[in-house]
Amino acid sequence: MLWNTLCMKFKTRPVRSLVADQQHRHINIVDQTMLPFALEMRTLTSWPDVAEAIRAMRVRGAPLIGVTAAYGIAMAMTADATDDALDRAHAGLLVTRPTAVNLAWALTRIVRHTRAVEPPERADTAWAEAMKIEAEDVATNHRIGTHGLDILRTLHRQQPRTINILTHCNAGRLACVEWGTATSAIYQAHQAGLPLHVWVEETRPRNQGLITQWELEDAGVPHTYLTDNAGGHLMQHGRVDAVFVGADRITRHGDVANKIGTYLKALAAKDNNVPFYVAAPASTIDWTISDGLTEIEIEERSGDELRLLRGLDRNRMLCDFRILDDDVAVGNPGFDVTPARLVTAIITEHGSFEPDKLSPS
Ligand code: MRU
Repeated sequence: MLWNTLCMKFKTRPVRSLVADQQHRHINIVDQTMLPFALEMRTLTSWPDVAEAIRAMRVRGAPLIGVTAAYGIAMAMTADATDDALDRAHAGLLVTRPTAVNLAWALTRIVRHTRAVEPPERADTAWAEAMKIEAEDVATNHRIGTHGLDILRTLHRQQPRTINILTHCNAGRLACVEWGTATSAIYQAHQAGLPLHVWVEETRPRNQGLITQWELEDAGVPHTYLTDNAGGHLMQHGRVDAVFVGADRITRHGDVANKIGTYLKALAAKDNNVPFYVAAPASTIDWTISDGLTEIEIEERSGDELRLLRGLDRNRMLCDFRILDDDVAVGNPGFDVTPARLVTAIITEHGSFEPDKLSPS
């Protein structure tokens, strides 16, 4: 039953990154640390399970982190609906990933709804709100894709041939509940018969490009896998018509925090007159801040992400290969900030906007 739900639309691979089981009060997730080598589901039954899954990046991608954390609150309220338990779960989940603002957004929303009712009603209220946040994620990302499709149709009218899109990291359906942010337009364009090809950047050190590749292959979208450093070269040679990326936090003036390396793509895009689009739900916009460089906390991740490489050995057994000793100093900032001046437009569920024309209404 779970498998059928997950495999609904795509050929063999789950279309949904998360399935809630309201009856048993738990959620099932695709463990993304195993992708693309193995497709493993995990059941999360408590808020500490959820916190571990977010911290370890079993679930990842700004929108999905928010939805999963909301279910963490629902599970916390199932176990203990006191104010103390609510505060503990809220604080414990909030610190799991600092950069993606969708986490704080979803937690603030669900905690407000939950606290507003008496303890005996809190579990049901929190479950209902988490399911609403999940359903909204699907609808929102579909709408983002529809606006992105308009942009791709215009590009195709201007150049009636295969449109080459470059993407970085995974802003795909596995980073959300369904559709993805940057990939939503790509999936919708592919379904509409628009000829396109996607350059997929590897995205060291976690190689989320592997997840994007896995998704695009499943959806039948033509694509080519690249090292992170190849994007600029391709742009110089006219082989990229547009860059589509997602975002983890956007300031009210349009600076964009996204996976490390995004800024370099934006610089190369500017230098080569390639339009640079950021696709994200409005919940990724942090209206409280204006300067991305000074006001966005950039997550520093474990050096082991650089020291060890996950892959299959010659016998196709899953292994973590060591490429650096433990005593080598490494730096591992997870995100960077692309200044608004390098962004052509930000595509949200409300339409596409020049970065300095964002508005909360
Ligand atoms: O560290 P991750 O894998 O959670 O980061 C995700 C990203 O940065 C993605 O590029 C994405 O654009 C944001 S989620 C749609």
